[in-house]
Amino acid sequence: MITLKSSHEIELMRRAGKITAAARALARDMVKPGVTTQQIDKAVFQFIKSQGATPSFLHYNGYPASVCVSVNDEIIHGIPGKRVLQEGDIVSVDVGAYIGGFHGDCAGTYPCGRVSEEAMRLIRVTQESFFEGIRYAREGCRLSDISAAVQKYVEANGFSVVREYVGHGIGRNMHESPEVPNYGKPGHGPRLLRGMTIAVEPMVNAGSAAIRQMPDGWTVKTADGKYAAHYENTVLITAGEPELLTVAEGSLV
Ligand code: MF3
Ligand code: CO
Repeated sequence: MITLKSSHEIELMRRAGKITAAARALARDMVKPGVTTQQIDKAVFQFIKSQGATPSFLHYNGYPASVCVSVNDEIIHGIPGKRVLQEGDIVSVDVGAYIGGFHGDCAGTYPCGRVSEEAMRLIRVTQESFFEGIRYAREGCRLSDISAAVQKYVEANGFSVVREYVGHGIGRNMHESPEVPNYGKPGHGPRLLRGMTIAVEPMVNAGSAAIRQMPDGWTVKTADGKYAAHYENTVLITAGEPELLTVAEGSLV
């Protein structure tokens, strides 16, 4: 069942979304050579708590941190630890915050110092594929119109989309119906209605789409060792343009 949010519930989701986006911006600004991934986690935890919110990911299915930090060939769900970020790394951060009974969820990939042009292109295409997708996040479109647009844009740029992990509905639970794949044919799945809230999150590999699950039970890497990028926002379907709920003052990314 896909829940439709009332205008009051949407207000609460805007509040959760703003805090989540600010946490992403904080993490983004910490991506620098010499910083450890657990320093980012600690800062995000403290920020979310300081806002009166709770980190959505902490203890979710046993996940041990407030943020996922996935470096280079790590696609998603990297666990923060002693790893020291190096010049040339690309760093994906994924964060969720819960307040007033609702979750926000967003992610982005950022360069650590100077990175290769190809790595910058991967980051940019991943972000752009999100915006291609949400051109169809409109009342009357079908869910898979978003999926198809993301896949088409990514593949036209020579990259590939991960199949095993998908976007999702979001609200009182971090993961709600429907699943939002980043691949598929247009014209399928539920029709989008105002009041639906979905997390659209392309996970894009520079090489093949194949993944490898790490023995820590969380980290997902590219099978071929090439880089991956991720970009996610919580999106509200409206009567017109989609509204991005995970926006911080002055910053979309
Ligand atoms: N942001 C992820 C998602 O969209 C959730 C991370 S999994 C967790 O599904 F366990 F770390 F929370
Ligand atoms: Co998500």
